[in-house]
Amino acid sequence: MRILVTGAHGLLGQKIAIIAAQESDHEILLTDKDRDTFFKNPRFDYQQLDITERGDVRSLVKNYAPDAIINTAAITNVDACETEKELSWRVNVDGLKNLIFPAKKLGTCHVVQISSDYVFDGRSKAAYTETDRPNPISYYGKTKLAAENALKASGVSGAALRTQVLYGTGYNVRPNFVTWVLSMLEKGGPFNVVTDQIGNPTFVDDLAFGCLRIAEAKANGIYHVSGSESVSRYEFARAIADEYGFDPESIGTTTSEEIGQAANRPLNSSFSTLKFESEFRYKPANVQQGLARLYQQYREGSKHLKVLFKHISQIEESGSDNA
Ligand SMILES: NC(=O)c1ccc[n+]([C@@H]2O[C@H](COP(=O)([O-])OP(=O)(O)OC[C@H]3O[C@@H](n4cnc5c(N)ncnc54)[C@H](OP(=O)(O)O)[C@@H]3O)[C@@H](O)[C@H]2O)c1
Repeated sequence: MRILVTGAHGLLGQKIAIIAAQESDHEILLTDKDRDTFFKNPRFDYQQLDITERGDVRSLVKNYAPDAIINTAAITNVDACETEKELSWRVNVDGLKNLIFPAKKLGTCHVVQISSDYVFDGRSKAAYTETDRPNPISYYGKTKLAAENALKASGVSGAALRTQVLYGTGYNVRPNFVTWVLSMLEKGGPFNVVTDQIGNPTFVDDLAFGCLRIAEAKANGIYHVSGSESVSRYEFARAIADEYGFDPESIGTTTSEEIGQAANRPLNSSFSTLKFESEFRYKPANVQQGLARLYQQYREGSKHLKVLFKHISQIEESGSDNA
């Protein structure tokens, strides 16, 4: 299969490349908005692509003629979306539409869009399923729902994968909840974590796996692809401390109201992942399993990323890498 990945310098984009290289013979074109790339592996082609540049998107999709596009590119800073509304709409909604149009023209191209638990208001008493009614309470959530709707309305073959609390390793990636908690624990604490935000932390490897399987199957519709266990952020932080050998007692409690984040969060956005699990016969990691797999990747250090970045193996060969 020939797959075009957008936002490939991000956490999910990198992981899709690593997993695809390890377990498939897909031909992959990685793209992001940067002109230069740290991808040096001959297994992957890289090309600059800003998904808001409609003309560039149209000609790249037309010329490369992918069987699938996996759109991981997005403005992902939820609080910044409240003040950067125009930009976040242009990237998160119009960017997807720019991809859909030429994909539809190709006729055989499947589009995989990454969506979010933030399409929900978090007031449900039960875990959300794919058929529950969205009601976003943040601007980021509104952009993600509008993108889902644009995909559906376009009639292109495609799926929206909703995920949440993504964590994992990558090269130069943005901090995520786990890396933030680890940095606070390393500083020695104490620090406080909210007890009233509840959801399913998602090990990025599981989501990358889901993106590839759904693209290969050309599955349509909405899929909840997240970790298989629902916990509060406070419980998750304590589990991180346990797994990495820190003292969980250095973590105190707080509430969403006390910390006052710019964007509203859905308080309980727990997912049911049964649809994805049963259709693809795959059970994503629970909290302990995900953290253990991540710990293993940290232990392996740069070996884990060698699949992707040739220069890392060159650094190791020259003996200047401690990992
Ligand atoms: N992280 C989470 O907890 C979470 C939860 C639910 C859903 N999601 C969704 O999952 C997807 C992947 O998330 P992630 O954590 O991998 O995000 P990420 O690490 O922030 O990666 C996003 C990538 O997209 C790039 N990008 C931004 N604007 C672009 C544009 N106009 N054209 C092309 N590329 C552009 C970014 O480049 P720059 O870094 O240079 O801006 C970055 O490399 C996103 O759709 C996100 O909304 C994430």
